[in-house]
Amino acid sequence: MKIKSKRILVTSALPYANGSLHMGHLCSTYLPADIFVRYHRLKKNNVVYVCATDEHGTPIEINAKKAGLKPEEFVKRYRKEHARDFKDMGVSFDIFYHTHSDENRKMACEFFKRAQEKGAIYTKEVELMYCPECARYLPDRFLKGTCPKCGAEDQYGDSCEKCGATYQTSELLGAYCAVCHGKPEKRVQEHYFFRLVQYEKELKKWLMGNKHIQKDVKNYVLNWIKDGLKDWDITRTGPYFGFLIPGEENKYFYVWLDAPIGYVSSTVKWAKMNNGKWEDFWLDESTDIYHFIGKDIVYFHFLFWPALLMAADFNLPLDIPTRGYLTVDKDKMSKSRGTFILLRDYLNRFPCDYLRYFLTSVTANNTTDTDFSYKEFQVKVNNDLSDTFGNFVHRTLTFVKNNFDSKVPVFGKLNKADKVFDAKIDGLAKDVGGLIEDVELKRALEVIMEFSRECNRYFNSNEPWKAVKNDKARAGTVLYLSVKAVGMLSVVLEPFVPCISKELQGVLGIKNTQWGRISVKSGMKIKSPKPLVVKVTDDDIAEDPFSALDLRVAKILSVKDHPDADKLYVMTIDIGDEKRQLVAGLREHIKKEDLEGRNVVVVSNLEHAKIRGVESQGMVLAADKGEDVVVLDVGDSKPGESVVAFGVAKKPAAGLKFNDFLKIEMTVNGKGEIAYKDTVLKTESGKIVKADISSGAKIR
Ligand code: 2FM
Ligand code: ZN
Repeated sequence: MKIKSKRILVTSALPYANGSLHMGHLCSTYLPADIFVRYHRLKKNNVVYVCATDEHGTPIEINAKKAGLKPEEFVKRYRKEHARDFKDMGVSFDIFYHTHSDENRKMACEFFKRAQEKGAIYTKEVELMYCPECARYLPDRFLKGTCPKCGAEDQYGDSCEKCGATYQTSELLGAYCAVCHGKPEKRVQEHYFFRLVQYEKELKKWLMGNKHIQKDVKNYVLNWIKDGLKDWDITRTGPYFGFLIPGEENKYFYVWLDAPIGYVSSTVKWAKMNNGKWEDFWLDESTDIYHFIGKDIVYFHFLFWPALLMAADFNLPLDIPTRGYLTVDKDKMSKSRGTFILLRDYLNRFPCDYLRYFLTSVTANNTTDTDFSYKEFQVKVNNDLSDTFGNFVHRTLTFVKNNFDSKVPVFGKLNKADKVFDAKIDGLAKDVGGLIEDVELKRALEVIMEFSRECNRYFNSNEPWKAVKNDKARAGTVLYLSVKAVGMLSVVLEPFVPCISKELQGVLGIKNTQWGRISVKSGMKIKSPKPLVVKVTDDDIAEDPFSALDLRVAKILSVKDHPDADKLYVMTIDIGDEKRQLVAGLREHIKKEDLEGRNVVVVSNLEHAKIRGVESQGMVLAADKGEDVVVLDVGDSKPGESVVAFGVAKKPAAGLKFNDFLKIEMTVNGKGEIAYKDTVLKTESGKIVKADISSGAKIR
C-alpha cells in the first residue's frame, strides 16, 4: 500500500488521569503509534502525533474527592506522572496535552453547535438511576448489574466487558450503586441526545468503503449497525467533572463526547506552539488521520466519533488500528493477583527498548490478545536482540576496530554472493517501510530479524578472520558490506528500539538519519563498540520472594487467652469465604476488646502449625518497634480482599514455611504506610495498609 498523502495526524487513545500507566496501555496504543510516527518522521513526512490526558468523568470526580483534592489538582498529578512515564518509555508525542483545557472546551462547544445546526441534537426525558445515599445520579461506571444483552453479572452501567455491548444505565438488570452498594431509585431528567441513527447509512458507507480498517473490527462494527443503532445520550448531571453544556447550569457533556474532541483541541494547541495550522489536519481532506486504540473502545471510535466528525464536517480517520488486551502469564491483568505491571515497575528493572521490542514482536495486527511473561521476554530479548542483531553488530564493529584501525574498509570487486547481499541491504528499508505503513509491525520486525540472521550467515560463510590473513582486500569488501548492513539495521530499527539505534548510530557516526538512506563511506572512522544489548539473566527475572505470600484482609471475630501460654491469644478470623483459628503473640500488647471486630492483615497461606498445643492456621501481621506493637489498618477494606505490593505478581503456594516468611522484610515508612522494598502495600480496593506506629517498625 502507498500512503496517499504526506500530511499525517496520529493519535493514541487518551489515558485517563485517574491511575498509573501499565503495560497494557503501552501495548495497545502508545507503542504501535509511536513506531508508526517515528517511521514517518524518518520518511520526512509531515506527521504530528498528539495525545492528552483524559480528565473528565465521574470516577475522576469521586477519586479526587476521596483524595481530598479538587479534580483540577487531582488530574494534574497524573498528567505529570504520565508525561514522565511516556518519556522514559520513548513515546514521542509532538504534544501531550489535556482535555480540561480552554481549547477543548471551545472545540467541544463548536462540535455541539455544528451538530445542533445539522439537527443532530435533541432533548428527551430519560429515566435515570439516582443513589439517594450518595446524592448523585449514577452514570456508567458507578452502577453495576447484569448485562441486558448477554446476562453477564457484575457489569458496568454503560457497557459490558463480556459481550462488548453498550446500553443505557436504566436497562441494566438488578442494578446497585457501585460506591455504597445501595439500591438506586429511578428519576426523570431531560437529557441531550446525539442522533446516531441519523448517521447509520453514512457510517456504513464509510466503513464499507474504507480499505485500511482491520477486517476483524469492521465486521464487528457492521454487525452492530445491522442490529440497529441507538441515539447517544451525551448528558451527565452534576456533581460531575467536565464541561457545562452551553446554556445549562448542572448538565455536563458526557466525558466520551469531549475526550475524542481532545484529539482536535490538542492539535490546536500544538499548532499554536509550532506555527502550524490545525485546520490542515482536520479540515483538509488530503491529511491521513490514524487513531490507535485498544479493543475496549471500538464502539466509541468507530461509531460515535466518526458520526460526530460527520456532523461537524471534519475529516474522518483513514485508519483506526485496534489491538487486543495484554495478558500477563496468560491471565487477565489483575490487581488482586498483583499482575498489573505498571510501566514504572518495568522501567525500574529494564531498558525501555527491551519491552518495545518484545511487545512489538508478539502483538499481531488485529484484536487478539497479547501475552507478556518475563520468561518469554527474556528469551526474545536474548535470542533476537542480543544473539542475532547485537552479535552481528558487535563482531562486525570489533573486526573493523581490530583489523582496519577502526576505519570502514574500501571495497573491491563484488562477487555474486556479495551482490545478492548488497541488494538485500538496499531493499530492506522498502520492505520494512511498506509493512510499517500497513501497521504490520510484528511482521516488520520479523523481516528485520530474518535480515539479521542473513547478515550473520554472510559473515560466517565469508570467514573474514581467515581472509584478513591472506587476502586483506577481500576481508575489506566483506567488512564494508557488513558495516553497511549494520548502518541499515540501525535505521530500520530506529522506530522500534530508538535508544539502541541512536547509540549504534553514535558509534557509526551517522547523524540526521533518513529512512533507507545511510552514508557508510570507506575511510569513515568508527568509535569503539560497546555491547548494545546486555542479556537478561535468570537472576534479573527471578520471582520476588514476596510473590510467595498470600496476604489477605481478615476480620477478627473473637479473641481468647491461650490455655497454656501467657503471651498468646487464640482467635477466630473471617477471611471472606472461610473462618480460621489463629494463635497470635499479642496478649502483652493489645487488649482483647481492641482486637475483636477489627479488620487486619493475615498471612493466609502459612503452613499450619501447633503452637503450644493449639492449631494455628495462618498468622496476623503486626508492626513491632520494641515495646510498641500494633496490628495493621486497612481502612474499610472487606474480609477476603487480597493485599498486594503493586507490580509483584502474586503466586502463593499453600504451606509457606515460616522461615521463608521471615526472609521477607516489610517495614513502616515515614507516612505510617507498610512498604515492601519501596512499594506500599494496598488492598484490592485500593486502600493503603497502614500502622499507627513510628517509622522503621518491622512487620512480623
Ligand atoms: O478508555 C479510555 O482509557 C479513554 N480514556 C480513552 C479515550 S480515547 C479518546 F477518545 F479520547
Ligand atoms: Zn451510593
